[in-house]
Amino acid sequence: MLISCWSVKGGAGTTVVSVALALVLAPTHPDGVLIADFAGDVPAALGAPDPRDPGLTGWLAAGASVPADALARLELDVGGGVGLLPRGTGAVTAPDRADVLAGLLAAEPRPVVADCGVLVDGAATVSLAAGATHSLLVTRACYLALRRAATAPVRPSGVVLVTEPGRALGRSDVEHVVGAPVRAEVAVDPAVARAVDAGVLANRLPRGLERALRKAA
Ligand SMILES: Nc1ncnc2c1ncn2[C@@H]1O[C@H](COP(=O)(O)OP(=O)(O)OP(=O)(O)O)[C@@H](O)[C@H]1O
Ligand SMILES: [Mg+2]
Repeated sequence: MLISCWSVKGGAGTTVVSVALALVLAPTHPDGVLIADFAGDVPAALGAPDPRDPGLTGWLAAGASVPADALARLELDVGGGVGLLPRGTGAVTAPDRADVLAGLLAAEPRPVVADCGVLVDGAATVSLAAGATHSLLVTRACYLALRRAATAPVRPSGVVLVTEPGRALGRSDVEHVVGAPVRAEVAVDPAVARAVDAGVLANRLPRGLERALRKAA
């Protein structure tokens, strides 16, 4: 099962949602969970050291001759039943190989969460979002973001709505514009920002975030 998290506007909370989703899923599966980082911030959000190469960018660039066990060799154990496929350096290129990668990740016996970052037309991450078992748009109820979501290169199967007080637009507006159900509402919570800044999200996942994402998992 591949759960791809993506956004249409930077800073929506996609990395935090991806990491929290992986942390929520890890104890519920005997082999844990795998998180595939296509955006580059997952190690920092997990409070883990920043791995360099090789990573997913290298796998994509290597083409069809890549060894069958190459993905497994990229995986890093970050504890708590979470395996990490790091992004690597360079651009996420080779959209044709991204289709193959999406298929491999979707066929993994463990749940796989992919942080695809902001989707850009024609990018390899579009295939990861389109080829996922669950394709989750992470967005605020923001007019500017929703305008982009309406013309995004992928139709999501669900939305993770990051909610803030005082917004004019709400859940039903988002569902109407995006054409997909809101699977979870994650509140903007200073406890979440503090946990990320302190690098302790993996050890002390704030209760509200955990509860919200159980519904999407
Ligand atoms: N639910 C939340 N409550 C409070 N702060 C949050 C929440 N989610 C994310 N943040 C904070 O907002 C900032 C952006 O979050 P994050 O990096 O997850 O966004 P992103 O969509 O992945 O950004 P980018 O587009 O740059 O990859 C970070 O400082 C993070 O700590
Ligand atoms: Mg991010």
